[in-house]
Amino acid sequence: MDQQDIIEGLKPVCLCRNVKKRVFLKHIATGMRTLEELRAATGAGSGPCGGKRCTPKILALLDETGGK
Ligand code: FES
Repeated sequence: MDQQDIIEGLKPVCLCRNVKKRVFLKHIATGMRTLEELRAATGAGSGPCGGKRCTPKILALLDETGGK
């Protein structure tokens, strides 16, 4: 993991629940492949915005990593 990966991992995906990209990548690495699984594991989507801001980012992450 280089410095750029570390910086990338610190980017917030769910602002409401302060869940960073590295947390999602860790769960994806353990086999999670759906939006529902990631939401349940991280609390993302349960903030005041109701997931409006983070859902597209989570779906993009799943798309990039081969999930759905
Ligand atoms: S940004 Fe994730 S619930 Fe609002």
